[in-house]
Amino acid sequence: MQRAILLTGGAGFIGSNFVHMLLEQRPDWRLVNLDALTYAGNLQNLAAAEGNPAHVFVKGSITSAEEVDRALDACGDLPISVVHMAAESHVDRSIQSGLPFVDTNVLGTQVLLDRCRARGVERFVHVSTDEVYGSLGPEGFFTEETPLAPNSPYSASKAGSDLLVRAAHHTHGFPALITRCSNNYGPWQFPEKLIPLMIANASEDKQLPIYGDGMQVRDWLYVQDHCEAILAVLERGEVGEVYNIGGHNEYPNLAIVRMILEALGKPESLMVTVADRPGHDRRYAIDAGKIERELGWTPRFTFEQALPMTIAWYQSQPEWLQGLRSGAYREYYERQYGPQGQG
Ligand code: NAD
Ligand code: DAU
Repeated sequence: MQRAILLTGGAGFIGSNFVHMLLEQRPDWRLVNLDALTYAGNLQNLAAAEGNPAHVFVKGSITSAEEVDRALDACGDLPISVVHMAAESHVDRSIQSGLPFVDTNVLGTQVLLDRCRARGVERFVHVSTDEVYGSLGPEGFFTEETPLAPNSPYSASKAGSDLLVRAAHHTHGFPALITRCSNNYGPWQFPEKLIPLMIANASEDKQLPIYGDGMQVRDWLYVQDHCEAILAVLERGEVGEVYNIGGHNEYPNLAIVRMILEALGKPESLMVTVADRPGHDRRYAIDAGKIERELGWTPRFTFEQALPMTIAWYQSQPEWLQGLRSGAYREYYERQYGPQGQG
């Protein structure tokens, strides 16, 4: 073993994709995966890593210094790099209740920073989001110099964590780097997010809730491309720098939902307009020129390739989806979409 990676949030969507990529591409690294297994964390996402001695799962929260120390101890005496993904990640849930977002995203990030600094980790990549920049008009792109202007409790808590990471570098010389990526899609995404929600509902002939006029624009990136960008930043990024990640792949929500319906052979009559998300950001679009120029990263997958792959993946996972879409999910869904649940 050459080195250890402490990954936080590795049982979630992007985290589990990162685990599978790293075990394949860096088989001589020890990967310690610290995850609290909230509603969004799922050990089934990691089934393919079971029995691999390079992957050590530690159940614990980044808000607990003792639990973070336990994960750092599991790295042994190898040099440690950290990839910090653990977060409360869903905007709609943050509108229902902001406190869990402040707890994990802000407080948890500071606990993690303190323990990692005490341990003398070599590098710390903080995985953030383009939502910290706020909302764009019809023209222009977010660059690394765009001022932070978060609009939801989720994005405000992520911006808070970015500033704490920045301060740790500025004040203590802590070896931190920050990434800010656009919307991801792909396997193992929790079906509260647009693409898996629409695939799951359409597959069951349930209604597809479109917020407002459906003309909000997101810049979609296949999750594997995001994971490869994070690895590039981890290995070759400059300490203290921010790297935007995106695919120049903008679509309004209505177009995405229509593509899913067409791929599944389902009628557009399944779409229903529901109340808009309060404070809904109109458009996100990333200028990824810096990471392309400086680290040589570019996306490998086009939307035309990866959306059908993603739809096929969800169709092949009815039990995984069914397991997640019962119990507490039904309660969340009713709170979000009303007693009829639009579905
Ligand atoms: P996710 O909600 O699918 O997974 C989050 C993971 O963090 C879960 O496994 C959960 O159990 C874990 N977790 C939550 N609170 C924790 C705590 N206190 N301690 C330890 N573990 C905890 O999220 P995701 O979509 O995979 O996003 C991962 C990261 O990437 C987040 O930081 C998010 O802000 C960022 N990001 C996501 C996207 C996207 O489109 N999904 C885009 C850009 C950036
Ligand atoms: O931009 C990166 C961000 O992308 C990440 O930081 C977040 O963690 C991630 O959740 C995602 O945030 P969004 O709010 O953009 O993603 P979401 O899938 O929730 O919504 C995408 C768009 O679809 C948004 O304009 C809202 C709309 N939408 C969403 C849902 C769940 C609907 O119209 N109907 C819905 O039911």
